[in-house]
Amino acid sequence: MSTNETPKPLPASDEAWWRNAVVYEIAAISFQDSNGDGQGDLPGLLQRIDYLNWLGVGAVWLTPIYRSPNRDFGYDIADFCAVDPRFGTQEDFDEVVRALHDSGIRIILDLVPNHTSDEHAWFTESRASRSNPKADWYLWAEAGPNGGPPNNWLSRFGGSGWEWCEERRQFYYHSFLPSQPDLNWRNREVREAMASTMRFWLDRGVDGFRVDASAVLIKDDLLRDNPPDPEADDKTPPPQANMPVFTDDRPEAMDCIEYIRGVLDEYDGRLLCGEVQGKTDRIGHFYGNSKPRLNLPLNFALLDTEWNAISLQATIDAYFNAIPKGAWPDFVIGGHDKHRVASKLGQAQARILAMLLMTIRGTPFLFAGDEIGSEQVPIPAEQVRDPFERLVKGFDLGRDPERAPLRWDDTEAGGFTTGEPWLPLSGDRARNIEAQQRDGKSLLNLYRELIALRRREPCLLHGEYRPRRAQNDVFSFERSLGETEILVGLNLSGEPRLFEWQGNGLILLSSGLDRGPGKVDGPIHLKPNEGVIVKVTR
Ligand code: NOJ
Repeated sequence: MSTNETPKPLPASDEAWWRNAVVYEIAAISFQDSNGDGQGDLPGLLQRIDYLNWLGVGAVWLTPIYRSPNRDFGYDIADFCAVDPRFGTQEDFDEVVRALHDSGIRIILDLVPNHTSDEHAWFTESRASRSNPKADWYLWAEAGPNGGPPNNWLSRFGGSGWEWCEERRQFYYHSFLPSQPDLNWRNREVREAMASTMRFWLDRGVDGFRVDASAVLIKDDLLRDNPPDPEADDKTPPPQANMPVFTDDRPEAMDCIEYIRGVLDEYDGRLLCGEVQGKTDRIGHFYGNSKPRLNLPLNFALLDTEWNAISLQATIDAYFNAIPKGAWPDFVIGGHDKHRVASKLGQAQARILAMLLMTIRGTPFLFAGDEIGSEQVPIPAEQVRDPFERLVKGFDLGRDPERAPLRWDDTEAGGFTTGEPWLPLSGDRARNIEAQQRDGKSLLNLYRELIALRRREPCLLHGEYRPRRAQNDVFSFERSLGETEILVGLNLSGEPRLFEWQGNGLILLSSGLDRGPGKVDGPIHLKPNEGVIVKVTR
């Protein structure tokens, strides 16, 4: 195929390919550098597609690669339809899509509909006067009675969410940085403009989008003040001092998600997943009722729960009860905004999490590095890049520690770059991909085996989920499909524990280091931090 031909989408024969796929999030800047500038790029990613194939992931979610001044990890976009030169060219992007598709791997992109960079041409035009054609494309408001901000809405990154614009003598609203003005989703032209950007990428073979901040697309049109949060105390970061009832998760925002979904559905076999804020009991709304919304509202419950068998069973139960009948679940264990889970659970329990993630009903999402148990990388104050860390100090909100470049080998720059990495790599040189590929008992090889098993066993992909009672620090559940029944028992403690069940079965896989597959009948003496997958043969 010639390199300037637009890549073709994978055949849409399996409409719901995303039910079967393991989704692997990649922040290109931290994945693989190809030109020694210390920042990962698309040609670098291209060099690593063999690895993705080896691991067995079904889809890659790529965080923003669009033209951006990069004040917020590329989530401040100056042109939705251009690849930032830091990452390469449009041809490089097309090449990545082609190579992934040739390996049967889908690709989804971040869609950031809520805001642009203040360097976007739309904003330059909008801010110039009150009467230009794009005057109403952003959220503009008159000053409050004392000449200050129009109301008390706060930016998530600290301070008022309103910024004064001298040219218009008005304020504009920004949910995030002042350099990320919010678009006005009540304006039909804004919707249409965003639809065109979606089609631009869908026409290039992209398999779907992860919608950024999908719950905040609409803000109250009366600009009513948010009430103070009665539970806020000195441990609450200042941006969360008020309850965001008039800025977040407005009922009107659902209509925007439906609109975005409508555009996606002009194409066959594409996926819309999305970042949704709020409590588990709200997640069901994001699937849609009579009109479809997101295929997969991202579920972070496994990251938020206390890590013990009893909390886990409550968390998972609450989630399954919160999603509509027929809706497809998903579970996320990492991301560019989330502290590394291995730092929270420890390496032994990271293996248990891997087994849970790959055996529970739903699409698994992991962030590059989770498969080797990457931990938070300490970032010296002078090297901090994340504005969140700089603007809201003292609450451990910085996201650089999870965004550190991936370690491919044990050299100083980890095989990531030949230059100076944009963020320091982990000092734990032994924890790298090459070493774990060689070690048959590594977390990486456990992930690989689990992913392969998941593919081989339709019951693990499509089977019903049946809870069992967590006992004795063992969290367990059943999956069933037709005659097939699979039991999963996970020891969440660092002590030996009995996994109680009756019947005959075959151990398909243990997360432990010294138990191979084989026959079992009845209760299993689990080693500390051991999980097993048993196919029942009774
Ligand atoms: C959500 C993204 O995941 C996060 O990284 C970013 O800072 C905000 N949206 C603003 O775009």
